[in-house]
Amino acid sequence: MSTHIAAASGEIAETVLLPGDPLRAEWIAKTYLDDVTCYSQVRNMLGFTGTYRGERISVQGTGMGQPSISIYVHELLAEYGAKTLVRVGSCGGLLADVAIRDLVVGISAATDSSMNALRFEGFHYAPTADFSLVRAYVEKAEAAGARYHVGQIFSTDVFYHDRPELRDRLTQYGVLAVEMEAAALYTLAAKFDARAMAVCTVSDNLVTGEETSADERERTFAEMVELALDAVSA
Ligand code: ADE
Repeated sequence: MSTHIAAASGEIAETVLLPGDPLRAEWIAKTYLDDVTCYSQVRNMLGFTGTYRGERISVQGTGMGQPSISIYVHELLAEYGAKTLVRVGSCGGLLADVAIRDLVVGISAATDSSMNALRFEGFHYAPTADFSLVRAYVEKAEAAGARYHVGQIFSTDVFYHDRPELRDRLTQYGVLAVEMEAAALYTLAAKFDARAMAVCTVSDNLVTGEETSADERERTFAEMVELALDAVSA
């Protein structure tokens, strides 16, 4: 058991899907995995292991924001030997054509967080996804005829921003979408020589003001997860 995950050694698979919401972790495990066991309920941040087409896969809730996901990802990497981590989340589109329900694959993640500023005092690290995972995901998305975008995303610490000019600058510089976790995930995966990728469905668009309904969010979340499971088990 680690500080925030109550799993015994060997109970967590090398490949882990990472939704922010622990109830979504439970939904993924119960909907898509066989022989499911729940390995942790600490702070209700549920974690499950099962098999998908014969391959062991775990699903771990992470909470929202970089401090929260960093705790779970650090322990998965440092204590449980995780090797492949895929965040499955939602994001806000920053370009008009990154429309609600589209998929966004973050090949890199800029951030306003101080976490990497403290870690890399004096220079600006560029958190980057694993290319083999991105390629596998894109192949599956392409084959499924899904609408997807691949590019830079922005991991913010501030959901309720009061600086619209900053958002406009990100749009101007072609950043696809804003979410709250990928930069920390990519940085920690690099530190521990593991592979990571964040895929998100667009739940809202900050340029057009469009938002998805709860029903649409559920449907697009399912599509994103199915493609992620296919990509990591290919
Ligand atoms: N996740 C989904 N929508 C978001 C937004 N507008 N800002 C930050 N994270 C998000």
